[in-house]
Amino acid sequence: MIQATALTKRYGTKVAVDHADFTVAPGKVTGFLGPNGAGKSTAMRMILGLDRPTSGSVTINGIPYGKLAAPLREVGALLDAKAVHSGRSAYNHLLVLAKANGLPRSRVDTVIDLVGLRPVAKKRAGGFSLGMGQRLGIAAALLGDPGIVMFDEPVNGLDPEGILWIRNLMKALAAEGRTVFVSSHLMSEMALTADHLVVIGLGRILADEPMADFIAKNSVSYVRVRSPQLAELGPKMALRGWRVEVQGDGSAHVYDAKPSQIGDVAGSEGLWLHELTLVQSSLEEAFMRLTANSVEYHAGGTGGTRGTGGTGGAQDGPASPPLPQGGPGWGEGAGTQRGNASGWTPSGPEQAAQDPGQMLNGPDSSAQAPGQTPGRTDQGPTQPPDQAPNQTATRYQNSERGQ
Ligand SMILES: Nc1ncnc2c1ncn2[C@@H]1O[C@H](COP(=O)(O)OP(=O)(O)OP(=O)(O)O)[C@@H](O)[C@H]1O
Ligand SMILES: [Mg+2]
Repeated sequence: MIQATALTKRYGTKVAVDHADFTVAPGKVTGFLGPNGAGKSTAMRMILGLDRPTSGSVTINGIPYGKLAAPLREVGALLDAKAVHSGRSAYNHLLVLAKANGLPRSRVDTVIDLVGLRPVAKKRAGGFSLGMGQRLGIAAALLGDPGIVMFDEPVNGLDPEGILWIRNLMKALAAEGRTVFVSSHLMSEMALTADHLVVIGLGRILADEPMADFIAKNSVSYVRVRSPQLAELGPKMALRGWRVEVQGDGSAHVYDAKPSQIGDVAGSEGLWLHELTLVQSSLEEAFMRLTANSVEYHAGGTGGTRGTGGTGGAQDGPASPPLPQGGPGWGEGAGTQRGNASGWTPSGPEQAAQDPGQMLNGPDSSAQAPGQTPGRTDQGPTQPPDQAPNQTATRYQNSERGQ
């Protein structure tokens, strides 16, 4: 267990970590996320006693790092993979660490095998590739068989196989009941690895919650609907209690409904559909939105901002993509170019006649006219296709957590 309380670090006038309160619990992988310069490494250095907090405190199992009797047995960390004596072999690097910390030589062999460095164990660490260096750093972190492990950007520069290996290793360590704290500025990677998130921006903690809660709060989805009969279909959908926002390009964004429900409505009303696409924002976008105002280093011009993926210029504020329009929790109609100021809202006699049960359950299929196909597209015989139907494409796909 790592516990930070009002943890603060100033470098001159620069506040690198600002009254940060967070807890890193055992048995799960906790992702420490934030844009470049957010304060991740500084916080990790303070956890390890490498930097002294300006104020506040951080403890490991209730004790400051400096007062731990056998630090390497309590917490292992990879902060900088290049922090090795370049002339020493991987084996000797680990052996020196083991001896200095009263650990048996057998642990050196164990961790060398664990990280897959056996074939190069006797080779100079200075000649290691980035991935081999990361593996050596992880071997050092695991040398004391610690209950807490901390990795600062462990996947930086790794190939897909290396990334997969580290991901599985962290999950396995957490499954053994260890505390795993890993920093990254890559939300997409964290989405695959972490159970819990601590998000930091400009030194301040922006979120400290289970991944599932972060997803629920920050992901937005809607169905993009195109229909040559949108003027008729729109009110029918709004009658179901779904929020319908007409876009400038003639499509509609429909919230609170599944594509199948919309297809059923169109089918039962005998209306043509040209597109029915589920659009989901990815966690990467959610993270970018959350940290948009906390990005210290923006890329200018055409380059993306590292860790934020934006294309906005340095002076242009948040370098995040446009919000999915008007989604719950993101402000009513944010960024929406509406053909109709309020979209459709239930009104008039149709509303009075509405069966409340249909609000949630979709249209009663028994009301469907004979011969009509729910959700049919423009492939019908009476109307030649002028636009390929796209019922399954997902523009912002988040396959990681079943979003
Ligand atoms: N020794 C130092 N002296 C002065 N400023 C520092 C020092 N270390 C860090 N900083 C500043 O503190 C802030 C936080 O830096 P830190 O390295 O902790 O960020 P980070 O989240 O790890 O970023 P990255 O994703 O780029 O690794 C930055 O503005 C950085 O410039
Ligand atoms: Mg860092």
